[in-house]
Amino acid sequence: MSVRLSATRVLTAILKHDGSLATSLPAQLEKLSESEHSLLRQLCYGSMRYYPQLQLLAEQLISKPLKRKDLDVQALVLLGLYQLAYLRIPAHAAISETVQVTAKLKKPWAKALVNGVLRNFQRQQASLEQQLSVRQEYSRAHPKWLIKALRQAWPEQANEIMAQNNAQAPMSLRVNRLRGNRDDYAQQLQQAGIDFELCRFSSDGITLAQPRDVNQLPGFTEGLVSVQDEAAQLAAALLAPEPGERVLDACAAPGGKTCHLLEQQPDLAGCLALDMSELRLGRVRQNLDRLALDCELLCADAAASDWWDGQPFDRILLDAPCSASGVIRRNPDIKYLRQAEDIATLAHLQGQILRNLWPMLKPGGRLLYATCSVLPQENAEQISGFIADQADARELTLEANWGIACSAGRQLFPQPDGHDGFYYALLEKTPG
Ligand SMILES: C[S@@+](CC[C@H](N)C(=O)[O-])C[C@H]1O[C@@H](n2cnc3c(N)ncnc32)[C@H](O)[C@@H]1O
Repeated sequence: MSVRLSATRVLTAILKHDGSLATSLPAQLEKLSESEHSLLRQLCYGSMRYYPQLQLLAEQLISKPLKRKDLDVQALVLLGLYQLAYLRIPAHAAISETVQVTAKLKKPWAKALVNGVLRNFQRQQASLEQQLSVRQEYSRAHPKWLIKALRQAWPEQANEIMAQNNAQAPMSLRVNRLRGNRDDYAQQLQQAGIDFELCRFSSDGITLAQPRDVNQLPGFTEGLVSVQDEAAQLAAALLAPEPGERVLDACAAPGGKTCHLLEQQPDLAGCLALDMSELRLGRVRQNLDRLALDCELLCADAAASDWWDGQPFDRILLDAPCSASGVIRRNPDIKYLRQAEDIATLAHLQGQILRNLWPMLKPGGRLLYATCSVLPQENAEQISGFIADQADARELTLEANWGIACSAGRQLFPQPDGHDGFYYALLEKTPG
């Protein structure tokens, strides 16, 4: 199987809304040798990162839009344009390898089309780029609706947020404090010749100078560390459960925050990790096993209460399903897969889950609301609306040196070589 054919399969699944980078890439990686993995990742991530630009270029270069049944050819065109515009692969090799894929797609007619589009792009690159540069979707490489939403929400930060969305995400680690402290692990990294920086805001965090395979990390298999973004690492300290307390992690998979909570507080009376996806709960189990941790797992809907035994929780973490607009650099296919209308739907679901979980919290108990979104509808507006309606809910101000204070909670924006975009708000149920 050729790398470009694999990339075309991944991109076609995304264009058809049949998959995402996260769900479609692993099966294609398995078909290739390890030496080809990094090129496949680069082709898929890069093509989606610059999708808004590449699509505009393709529209200029293809006279008649392709039909839905030919989205594989569309994917191949985007892939070819990405290589020519962004990679240092010699153009003639990029074109010929890309054109060859048309034979594997069993669409011989597409050979001339892909070849023609790519050669025309080569000839007209400078003028096309100049012509399109006045369009924001092109210059910012973001969909129009998202540019508008970001500018409206964050007039001062929007351009920097978009620049970070187009950058490579750093790889951060969380040291398992049950197995040693951060300084000890830092020494092990040094001995292994791996460059890193200690995280500024998470006392368990280390950011690597270069992302690498987890199997190259000292003690990964033995559970000394996990991969987790620094912003996500803030949850455990914010929820700060005490010994003997009962904790609910309501949207837990793949379990990054569940595991951190258990590492931070091993003397809980109980921890229930809930998720609607059985498949993703399997990943929570894997993570718990690797870290030699344990908790109760339940596949259930956090927006329903049929699973609840009526015993209230002392602490609830609601890491709500969201637009993931704060982690676009890790999931650039969001630029294509998310639509403007999704935000209201997600905000509705988040509100439903929040209202459903609130009665499950003990008086005096705390709920930490989190998203990896930078959009206020899912964050500060959601929480302000909830507090306004819920007489027994009060916000506990987060005194922090990260992010910025909002009307409710704190917003983090994706940082160069630092944490992702995230949002946190801490609520307390007033006793009585
Ligand atoms: C942002 S992810 C959680 C990440 C996780 N907390 C971590 O730190 O690894 C959101 C999760 O919510 C789950 N989910 C979405 N809707 C849900 C619902 N109604 N009830 C329970 N889980 C849900 C998804 O399956 C997904 O695993």
